[in-house]
Amino acid sequence: MVRGPRVAQFEKEFTERFAGAGTSIAVGSGTDALHLAYILAGLKPGDQVIVPVFTCTATNIPFLYMGVIVRFADVDPETLNISVPHVRALMNEKTKAIVCVHYGGLPCDMDELHAIAKEYNIPVIEDAAHAPGATYKGKKIGEISQFTMYSFQAIKHITTGDGGMLTIQDHSLIPMAERIRWFGIDRSNKQKGTWENDITEVGYKYQMTDISAAMGLASLHEFDDILSHRQKLFEAYKIGLAGANGIKLIGAEAMDRTHAAWLCTALVEQNRSNFMLSLREKKIESSQVHYRNDRYSIFGGRRYDLPNMDAIEENYIVLPLHTKMTSDNVAYICEVIKRGW
Ligand SMILES: Cc1ncc(COP(=O)(O)O)c(C=O)c1O
Repeated sequence: MVRGPRVAQFEKEFTERFAGAGTSIAVGSGTDALHLAYILAGLKPGDQVIVPVFTCTATNIPFLYMGVIVRFADVDPETLNISVPHVRALMNEKTKAIVCVHYGGLPCDMDELHAIAKEYNIPVIEDAAHAPGATYKGKKIGEISQFTMYSFQAIKHITTGDGGMLTIQDHSLIPMAERIRWFGIDRSNKQKGTWENDITEVGYKYQMTDISAAMGLASLHEFDDILSHRQKLFEAYKIGLAGANGIKLIGAEAMDRTHAAWLCTALVEQNRSNFMLSLREKKIESSQVHYRNDRYSIFGGRRYDLPNMDAIEENYIVLPLHTKMTSDNVAYICEVIKRGW
């Protein structure tokens, strides 16, 4: 079965878990979900959007499909999320949306971003690829903004091998979302055995299959355990690295939001390559995962108004965090780090 009852069931259960009063639309990848959100937000060639510079390229590539102009906002040095003061500085009458990524699983400053978006009457689109299960001031990520996107790519909290979900709060957008997901065709309006309808919108082949949805349902049923295990590991890093010299954990101090613990990112004061090599000697892998997007030519080249990104570029590091690890593994990694590099 291509898109059938399991997709519908997955969408229903996903909505119950994450979307509040909204609806969930299952698609073939998180990138599909973002592209769909950008279309539903009415973005047109020449429009400007404010986006994070520090994210997976997938957040920003769909704008290149659409001829929409990306304006990169700097990172907040404490969280590596989008910097609210820089978003405000970049706003103008051509800005048609603000996109934010909850980096590593830590929610962005949603109240402040929504206050700016409200002034300009534009939507906030959340890339929650890292953040299912995160909360902001008691609200679930997924019920705050008009559009929230999730990824079910192989190494995410919930996986379907590859897949994605878009949660939408405005129900009137659902028929269009369903058409765009399937070539622009209104499947609810098909004749019995014949096909007489026109197609008036360009759509895509962005559907999720029942095979993926079956995996998604199984994964969703394990989600609470996966999330709490990851959060436990993140806490173990907090304890293990408290007071360590030359390294600072990102997102450890958030009080009004909960971290979905997809990444454990730290800033090392100096010698990041030595740091990585000394961990590797002990068979501990570390990496950068994402890079500033303006290093890629497709986005128009390096920007020079991103001082916070410049300052952390050579210092951030992502430490191991996944469901097969134990708190003892984390304690060992912290011990190795505390011996110095
Ligand atoms: C922040 C972020 N946005 C978007 C994506 C794209 O999701 P997908 O791989 O499901 O297309 C990813 C990761 O894959 C991501 O980390």
